[in-house]
Order: sequence, then structure tokens, then C-alpha cells
Amino acid sequence: MLDKIRQLLEEVNNLHAATPEEVEQLRIKYLSKKGEITMLMNDFRSVPAELKREVGQRINELKNRANERINSLKAEAAVQETATGHIDLTRTAYPLPLGTRHPLSIVKNEIVDIFSRLGFTLAEGPEVEDDWHVYSSMNFADDHPARDMQDTFFVEAHPDIILRSHTSSVQARVMERQQPPIRVICPGRVYRNEAISARAHCFFHQVEGLYIDEKVSFKDLKQVLLLFAQEMFGSDTKIRLRPSYFPFTEPSAEMDVSCTICGGKGCSMCKGEGWLEILGCGMVDPAVLEANGIDSTRYSGYAFGMGIERIANLKYQVKDLRMFSENDVRFLEEFTAAN
Ligand code: DAH
Repeated sequence: MLDKIRQLLEEVNNLHAATPEEVEQLRIKYLSKKGEITMLMNDFRSVPAELKREVGQRINELKNRANERINSLKAEAAVQETATGHIDLTRTAYPLPLGTRHPLSIVKNEIVDIFSRLGFTLAEGPEVEDDWHVYSSMNFADDHPARDMQDTFFVEAHPDIILRSHTSSVQARVMERQQPPIRVICPGRVYRNEAISARAHCFFHQVEGLYIDEKVSFKDLKQVLLLFAQEMFGSDTKIRLRPSYFPFTEPSAEMDVSCTICGGKGCSMCKGEGWLEILGCGMVDPAVLEANGIDSTRYSGYAFGMGIERIANLKYQVKDLRMFSENDVRFLEEFTAAN
């Protein structure tokens, strides 16, 4: 048997093949189910016990060598084939891995889509803003605590230049350019000086809405928000408005939706409340209209603002906010089907 192994090893070392088909013939001859090396391995049973160790080792060496040789012949033949122009153009291509849309883009697109069906158009503003657009024009008093260092990132050399801490600044950008009727939806990134944790980040994303025309009332706001909630979370969704305060709206409210998990019965997601907070809203304060060049005796309007991460969390139950900015492909691939 050792002789046979030696002889086959010799053969294997001297194999030659010019085309992939010839390589395949050699593979069949030596390594297929009925190949010579495979048959040899089948005979291993009959080797006397005292020789088993040596014969076993040799057979393994032979098999590994044959695999190596045939693989390198295969590679050579493929190169040869390309070099001589014998490329099989009908062969199927390797599938290219496709990227996935980021979950925040998916949710942002969905929000923008719902409001565009209601006649809202897209507006954008800069992320590096001035104090006027972020705060003063939005009716924040000079000593309002939100201007404090804790919230706002300042550009060091220019205390008036800041990273916007909310997309409400785009309201001012739109109003200074355009007279009513105004119907805009403004998605974008915002920055706040917060320690990064599972529940907070120094940047996140918001969508702002602004609607200004003659005779716009709170019931218009409520109807649009109900429609949005039902499109976003399902037609059984209920909304609840709670009085709140924002400098740029009067009256102001926060909106809850019936829990997207339990439907309102109470569960761990809604902490037994049956409701989940999703956005802030209100009637645009006349002082804001006037500061931005719009006649508040003729026009009224509503505004709302929501966090995209918040909505994405409710839809996909992402427990840790940091996942959204780490770009771990294992996380991103979870959203392939949601594209
Ligand atoms: N700008 C607010 C925030 O960042 C969200 C907001 C609340 C926007 C009420 C609005 C609004 O337009 O009317 O928390």
C-alpha cells in the first residue's frame, strides 16, 4: 500500500492541465467518490494495525497534496483562459452585495412621504446656524435656559455662530424667504451638548413642520397630526394632546399616540400608560410671525417638531441610540426588507 501511495504522490506532483475541463477530469480521477485516492482510503480498513499510523499519515498527505495541486491547476487554467480570450461570457455573474438604506433614512422618507401627500414641500436649512435663526427669531428670551452652554454647541471664535439645536430654525429660514401660504416639512440633523449614552446623543435628527395661511386653526393641526399618526403607526392609532410650553407656539401641546405595542392596554414599552409621546406642536406665536416679516393680523399657522430616532425606536424597538451612528453592518442589514 505504501508503494501505491508513493506512486500516486509522484503522479499528483506531475499533473498538468490546460483547461478547466481537464482539471475537472483530474479531480474526478483522483478525488471523486470513485477516485483513486478515495478508493485507497476505503482500503485503509484492511491495513494491519501496526502500520495504520504510518499509512494513515501518508494517505492524508497524499490527499492534501492532491487537493492543493488541483486547486492551483484550476486557478492557472482560469488565468490562462482569460489571457487567451476564452472567456465564457454566458457564465452567471457573482451576486454583488447590495447596501441597505439606513433606518433613520427609511423613517425620514416615510414621514416626508406622508406630509408630501398632504401638500407639504421640502425645506432645508444649514446645520451651522446663527443665534437669530435658532433662538431669537423663535421668540426665545435672551436669558432663556436653552441658550445655555449645556445645550448649545458654540463655534468658539464666534459666539453668535452655533450648531442648531432644533430644526425650528428652518421655520425662520422659510418665513424670511416666502410669504404665506407656507406648507413645509424640514428634516435635518441637530446637535446638543449631551454626554453620549444609550438614551442620549450629541447629535440626532428631527422633522419640523410649518403651515401658515389665513384662518388656520388648532383643529387643522389636530386633524393633520391624527392623519399622520394613523399613516405612520396604523389606522387604529389614537392621539392625545397634552398642554405644554414652547417659546415659539401659543398654545403649545405635546402629542402622544396610543402604544404601538399594546394598543393602549399598558405594557413595558409604554410603562403601563398606554400612551407614547412623539412630538411637540402648537399654533405659531404671533411674535414669531412678526419677527419673521409675516403679518400676524392676517395670517395664522401651526408648527410641529418630532425626533426621527424616537419614531424609529417605536417602530423597530432599537434599545440603544448609539446603534444609529455606529454603522455596524450587522445592525444595518436588519433593515433590508424595510427599504
Ligand atoms: N423644537 C422643539 C424641540 O426641539 C420641537 C418642537 C416643538 C417644534 C413644538 C415645533 C413645535 O415646531 O411647534 O424640542
